[in-house]
Amino acid sequence: MADTKAAEPPPPCTLVIFGATGDLTKRLLLPALRNLRRDGLFPEDFKLIGIASRDIGDEGFRKHLREAMTEFKGGNGEADVDWFLQRAHYISGKFEDAATYAAIAKQVKDNVLFYLATPPSEFSGIVNQLGKAGLVKEEGGHWRRVIIEKPFGHDLPSAVALNKDILGVLQETQIYRIDHYLGKQTVQNIMVFRFANGFVEPLWSRDHIDHVQITVSETVGVESRGRFYESTGALRDMVPNHLFQLVSLIAMEPPSRFDAEALRGEKAKVLESVQHLTPYTARGQVVRAQYAAGTVGDKAIPGYRDSPDVAKDSRTETYVAMKLMIDNWRWAGVPFYLRTGKALAKRRTDINIRFKQAPLALFRDTPVESLPPNDLTIHIQPDEGVTLRFGVKAPEPQMRIEGVDLKFNYADAFTVAPSTGYETLVYDCMIGDATLFQRADNIEAGWSIVQPILDVWEADKTSVIPTYAAGSSGPEEADALLSRDGRRWRQIAPVDKTK
Ligand code: BG6
Repeated sequence: MADTKAAEPPPPCTLVIFGATGDLTKRLLLPALRNLRRDGLFPEDFKLIGIASRDIGDEGFRKHLREAMTEFKGGNGEADVDWFLQRAHYISGKFEDAATYAAIAKQVKDNVLFYLATPPSEFSGIVNQLGKAGLVKEEGGHWRRVIIEKPFGHDLPSAVALNKDILGVLQETQIYRIDHYLGKQTVQNIMVFRFANGFVEPLWSRDHIDHVQITVSETVGVESRGRFYESTGALRDMVPNHLFQLVSLIAMEPPSRFDAEALRGEKAKVLESVQHLTPYTARGQVVRAQYAAGTVGDKAIPGYRDSPDVAKDSRTETYVAMKLMIDNWRWAGVPFYLRTGKALAKRRTDINIRFKQAPLALFRDTPVESLPPNDLTIHIQPDEGVTLRFGVKAPEPQMRIEGVDLKFNYADAFTVAPSTGYETLVYDCMIGDATLFQRADNIEAGWSIVQPILDVWEADKTSVIPTYAAGSSGPEEADALLSRDGRRWRQIAPVDKTK
């Protein structure tokens, strides 16, 4: 991770992007390259090669680069764009044609990073072709690495098969499986918060923690992504990857070293300790729902089933909530409640740690009836920071206790340059640091947890899928999941008392 070292430009290299004219490349990857250059973290000796099927030539690709690099967040105006244009080339070709790889071979030497920003159905084929063309052989101290985008598999068997395919061509050390949540500073801060502050660790267990809530709520609906989303749904799209990253970082044991193997080993152990769901618990502990028409902010949103490319009788979930138990010494008996959904009231990703209540006994001769809960909230986005809620004596003659917040906001303490979150990930790959990438076993452990849920849903063709109004906080069924345990979700959006 760049910020733990004296960050230096990586060694000279060539970046080859498969899917160079796609949406991900345009919105996230290219702006991230420009931001890295702004921060002086790019090798001077660098070449960028775009691969896609459209026949746009070097000039068309350079035009595309200019647009992406000036339109999207961060950067330095036009300043670094020309630098990239001078180093950019384009190869038009099909990913399944050997000729495409022969053309690549003519343009690359020494260190090469292949970025697969393509539909997942292409991953295996591209890696295979790279192998056949001899493009991933590491010789003379030079490296060849491959970044693979999400989604990595569609379920457990397909993820296992994909790992097998690519591991038939590449060494694990050459594979960088991306989960862009790990590129977020606030996600990386979870480790710093836990392991760089002496007061945290002694409190971080079943002895003191009542439960954990993880919320990733989005205001956007499915919009034009209907085709992709119909075959994906909220569970596959968000849970085995992004939400499980957060669970792992919150629940893992302190690694022996801050390096890729130690860290990924600890993360894998967390997911392996998650209590296996049976068909019965998968029905009882997991809630799925679809949004119906509603209003998010001032914007009217049609119901999911009325969105483009979505079946009128679709059973694809746009919301999922679940309760997971981690069967190990630190967490036994502490529920982890997870929820994520589209078209909800507010965009918010956070982790809330609810501490056990202090005994009320001390206040038995006073009018105090209840104590405010002690919550530690790690705000991932759009707010970035940490809040600790605790009780104070209200300044009144009688004894009354009120909950107040101690707040840290990144924006108050630091000047943060705009970024897409991909900067750290691309840089780390160029310097060969895989700490923030997923190892094969991390991926498979995530899919193993959700597979029983997928199986139960697949078998169920008839039950009514619950709905929630777009712009609400989710379905009632998700509230019931917690109220059965005597708990409540944190509010997604503040309640408007004027209504
Ligand atoms: C992507 C999902 O991986 O993550 C999207 O495919 C989702 O559906 C996105 O909107 C959320 O990312 P972020 O960084 O906006 O929380």
